[in-house]
Amino acid sequence: MGRPSRILHRAFRTTPNGVVAPTNRLAFGHRAGEQHRQPAHGTQRAVGRSPLPDHGPPYQCRSDRPFVVATFRTARPVEESCSCFGPSAASPNLSVLLSRRAIDLPDAPRLDNTEDVATRISFVYGLTPDSPPAVRVAMTCRRTRHERPLGARYGDSAGYRGLIEALLAKLRLDEVIDAGRENMIVTAGGSQSLQLVLDALVVWGDSVITDAPTWLGAVQAFRNVGANVVGVPVDEHGTDTSALERELVRLRDAGVQPKLIYVISNFQNPSGISTTVERRQRIVELAREHGTLILEDDAYFDLRYEGASLPPIYALDEGASTMYLGTLSKTMGAGMRLGWLLAPPALITRLTALKIDGGTNVFGAHVAAEWLPEHLEAHVRQLRTVYRRRRDVMLAALERHMPPGTTWTRPEGGFFVWVTLPPSVDTTRMLPQACERGVEFLPGATCYSDGRGRDQLRLSFSFAADDTIESGIRIIGEIAKGELLEAGRH
Ligand SMILES: Cc1ncc(COP(=O)(O)O)c(C=O)c1O
Repeated sequence: MGRPSRILHRAFRTTPNGVVAPTNRLAFGHRAGEQHRQPAHGTQRAVGRSPLPDHGPPYQCRSDRPFVVATFRTARPVEESCSCFGPSAASPNLSVLLSRRAIDLPDAPRLDNTEDVATRISFVYGLTPDSPPAVRVAMTCRRTRHERPLGARYGDSAGYRGLIEALLAKLRLDEVIDAGRENMIVTAGGSQSLQLVLDALVVWGDSVITDAPTWLGAVQAFRNVGANVVGVPVDEHGTDTSALERELVRLRDAGVQPKLIYVISNFQNPSGISTTVERRQRIVELAREHGTLILEDDAYFDLRYEGASLPPIYALDEGASTMYLGTLSKTMGAGMRLGWLLAPPALITRLTALKIDGGTNVFGAHVAAEWLPEHLEAHVRQLRTVYRRRRDVMLAALERHMPPGTTWTRPEGGFFVWVTLPPSVDTTRMLPQACERGVEFLPGATCYSDGRGRDQLRLSFSFAADDTIESGIRIIGEIAKGELLEAGRH
């Protein structure tokens, strides 16, 4: 590592219609300089932002750095990334062998399950530690082991048929979606569904439209494929369809065909807001008019605590140009790594061709196929009771402890409350202080592709026990008030 000040970065160019696109060239630049991973000034004009966002300053929270903090690390210099085979002269030169994409990406966060999350108050994690209900799942596992020997073998890439049938039955009953086997692929969770869709549709520099803010995993997935991310704001009625129309027209005028519109229709991550039926309908109309696809992410459908269910975009569109992503992570358990995607059959065959995995969690799929019809409904009822109470505890605590000028959403379901602080407060700076005091949250900037949201933060009310929510929010409120005082002094 004799040249610490130099780093590989991707060169950018501006296309004739003003689109910022990465070139096929990697260039050396200066690590500390502004030009690292940033397109030249003034090149973000026509259709949005850099496909390689700078996620802000790296931060390390002692040795017990929490999961969330690790996501802030920007790409390491290639010399560092490539030293993982040791310094021996015989080591392969990874800077020659690695793909440009692999070199450019920041390190993936490491989720250390041995770490005792019970020692801190986490408003980052999604699911209550009590899910899945261990005893019932274990009983189903035992039965599956004895009665379904196929569960121990490789499976179909499109997914275990028994699980597909169980999921289709649930969708018909709950989501009022009438789809057939040819419309479904089973995946290792919503994350893999999104990756497969991007794999099938997006090449480096292609444009995708997404809610802004949106789910951190989607921000990362778009970045990983080098998508040009066009953000559409979310207001109290959900995805802002007037802004969506403006962006679609702008792209069309620039000669750009967006590959998809990604929206989280219910209890959006991170805002907690659901998009109204009128807007869902409008999204369908706009997608049709502009010849693009919709990817509707409905990860939180089952977790509604009040209000009436809204028809999914997929149902309104009758599946014509909409893909629909669901997951068992928020109900049965994230460790199951089981989700699904509905799409037109022609797309499902392409996604299945891209998915080389010997079947997704075949044993788990057999277990889920048995467990879902018998236990899901009762389990979800329990989850709703627990989460509704935790949401209410959190909302009351926010009233008590947040500084004046702070606003937050009041979700009817899902996991998240989205907090907006006065603009002088930087939640990325607040996080280390919160960690020191045993509390963690997700800073808002992680939920945007362009570094906005520094005065915002996401709080998950699902994981922390009722009695710790109050003290966690009190600590965050104290830190925010301290930041405001500090900002007032300058
Ligand atoms: C909106 C949204 N979509 C999809 C997922 C993916 O979850 P999984 O890959 O566990 O199914 C999550 C998880 O946090 C999410 O919040």
